[in-house]
Amino acid sequence: MSKEFSATASGWSTYQRLLVYTKQYWRLLALAILGMIAAGLTEVAFAALMKPLLDGSFVNRDPATIHLMPLLLLGVFAARVIAEFASGYGMAWVGRSVIRDLKRDVFDHVLHLPVRYFDHVPGGEILTRLNYQSEQVSEAASSALTTLIRDSITVVGLLIWLLILSWQLALFIVVLAPILVVLVWSISRAFRRYARRIQDSMGQVSHVAEEVINGHRVVKLYGGETFEAARFATINALNFKDFMRMQAVSALSSPLTQFVLALGIAGIVWFATTGDRMHSISVGTFVSFITALSLMLSPMKRLIGVNSVLQRGIAAGESLFGLLDEPREQDAATARRIERVTGQIRFEGVGLRYHPANQTAESVSALAPWVLSDITLTIAAGQTVALVGRSGAGKSSLMASLPRFVEIECGVIRLDDTAISDFKLTDLRRQFAYVSQDTVLFNTTVAANIGYSDGGHEDRARVYAAAKAAFAFDFIEQLPQGFDTPVGENGVLLSGGQRQRLAIARALYRDAPILILDEATSALDTESERYIQAALENLSRGRTTLVIAHRLSTIEHADMIVVLDHGRIIETGNHRDLLVADGAYAALHRLQFSRAALPEVRA
Ligand SMILES: Nc1ncnc2c1ncn2[C@@H]1O[C@H](COP(=O)(O)OP(=O)(O)O)[C@@H](O)[C@H]1O
Ligand SMILES: [Mg+2]
Repeated sequence: MSKEFSATASGWSTYQRLLVYTKQYWRLLALAILGMIAAGLTEVAFAALMKPLLDGSFVNRDPATIHLMPLLLLGVFAARVIAEFASGYGMAWVGRSVIRDLKRDVFDHVLHLPVRYFDHVPGGEILTRLNYQSEQVSEAASSALTTLIRDSITVVGLLIWLLILSWQLALFIVVLAPILVVLVWSISRAFRRYARRIQDSMGQVSHVAEEVINGHRVVKLYGGETFEAARFATINALNFKDFMRMQAVSALSSPLTQFVLALGIAGIVWFATTGDRMHSISVGTFVSFITALSLMLSPMKRLIGVNSVLQRGIAAGESLFGLLDEPREQDAATARRIERVTGQIRFEGVGLRYHPANQTAESVSALAPWVLSDITLTIAAGQTVALVGRSGAGKSSLMASLPRFVEIECGVIRLDDTAISDFKLTDLRRQFAYVSQDTVLFNTTVAANIGYSDGGHEDRARVYAAAKAAFAFDFIEQLPQGFDTPVGENGVLLSGGQRQRLAIARALYRDAPILILDEATSALDTESERYIQAALENLSRGRTTLVIAHRLSTIEHADMIVVLDHGRIIETGNHRDLLVADGAYAALHRLQFSRAALPEVRA
C-alpha cells in the first residue's frame, strides 16, 4: 500500500519537476492550451450545427438559415485550423524545447559525475537516459496534456449536447459506454503488451547483429557463420511474429469499436422510429445525435489510454531525474585557486577502499577490503618514481587518487604542501598529464587530438613540437591529410603504437608539472617500445614523473623505485640498492630475467 502511495507521490514530483522545465515557455504553453480548448469546442460546434443545418435548410427551407449555414460551417472549420495549429505547433515547440533543455542538463550533469559513477553504471544505460528517456518523458507529458484538455472538453461538450438534444436517446450512452470502455481498454492493453515484446525483440535483433559486426574477425576465423545465422533467424522470426500479432490487434481494433458503435446507432434508429416518437425527433436532431456520438469515439479512446501514457512518462522521468539527482563532483568550500605546482608530492598515511555500487564512505560495509593502506611517501619535484608490484597490488589506484578519480578514505595527499582536497578540481587536474595502456582518442583530427587540452583551439606550432618529441611527426606527415587526418572512432585507423604516440604527444602538449604513466608501453612490441621509451624520456624531462611499468628494464634509471604489495609499500630505493638488499624487487627482477631468457614469453 505504501509502495503504491510513494509511486503516485513520486509521479507527482516527477510531473512538478517537468513543469519547472516548461516555466520559461509558459506563454506558448498557454497559447497551446487555448488552442486545445478551442479545438475541442469546434468538434462540439460541428455536431451542434448539424441540427439547424438539416432542420432549417433542408426540412423547413428557412431562407435565413440557408444563407447562414455555409458561412457558419466555414467559420467552424476556419477556427479549427487556427486552433489545431496553435495547439499542435505550440505544444511541439514547448515539448521539443523541454527535450533540448533536458538533454543539455543531462549531458552537463554527466560531464560532472564522479569516476565512481561510471564504474558502476553501464555506458549504454546513461546513453538511453540521455537519448531516449528525455524524449519519452516530454512526449508523454505533452500528449497526455493534449488528451486531458482537448479530449475531455470534446467528450464533455458532446455529452452535454446529447442531453440537450434528447435525454431519452442519451440513455443509450449509458448502455454503450461501458462496452466501449472495456473494449478499448483491453485492446490498448494487448497493444502495450505486444509493443513491449517488439521492443525487446528489436533490441535482440540489433544486439546479435552488433556482436557479429564488432566480432566479425572472430566469427570468420572460427567459422561461426552458420551458428550466427541460425541465432539471428530465430530472433528475426520472433520479431516477425510479434509484429503480426500487434498488427492483428490493430487491424481488428477499429472495425470492432465501430461495430459496437453501430450496435448503438441501430438501437437509436430503432428507438427513434418506433411508436409516436417518429414525430418528436426531427431529422436534424437525429443526425446531430449520431454525429456527436461518432465524434466522441476517438477522444474517448485516448482518454481511456491516457493513464498508460502518463505511466510511461513517469517511469522515464523517474529514471531521468534519478540521473540528475546523482551527486556531482564538488569543490570543497575552502577550495583554493592554484595556477601551477612545482611537482612535489607527499602521501601521508593514505588509505583507500572501493565502495560497492550504492554505498558511500559512511555506510561502507566492513567487508570492503583496503586497496591501499598506510601509504607514506615523499616525491621531490622533478623526480622520476617507478611503482612496481604484482597486478592488483594497488598501483593504478594510487595513481588514480592523485587527480581525485578516486577519493582516499584516510590520510592526506599534498602537492607542494597543499592537500589535494583543498584544490579546485579543475586546478588540481590541470597539474597532470596521463598516459595509460589503453589510449582514448576522439573521433576528430590528429591535431585536435593532440591539442585536446585546448578544446578545439590548439596551437599548431605546439602541436608540431609535441608530435616531434613524441616521435609521431613522421608518421603523421605520411597520413593522407597529415595533421588534419581524422583518426576514426577511438583511432581505429591507426596502429597501437601510433595511437600510443598520439597519447604521449597529447600529454606533452599539455605541459603539466606531473606526469603519470600507467603501463604506457606494456601493450607494444619492442620496436615501437624503443621509440616510445625515447618519447617518454622527452616527456619526463623537467617534470615529476610517476611510472608504472611491467618491464623492469624500463625503470632501472628511476630516481626511486617503490614496491607495492597488497596495497602497502614494502620496499623503496633505487635499482642498485634494491638489488643489493635482495628483497621483493630483487626477486621480481630475477623472475623477469629468467622469463626473458625463455622465447615467446613476455613479462
Ligand atoms: N573501480 C574499481 N572498483 C572496485 N575495485 C577496484 C576498482 N579498481 C580497482 N579495484 C580493485 O583494487 C585492487 C587494486 O587494483 P589496481 O589499483 O588496478 O592494481 P594494479 O594497478 O596494481 O594492478 C584490485 O583488487 C582491484 O580489483
Ligand atoms: Mg593497473
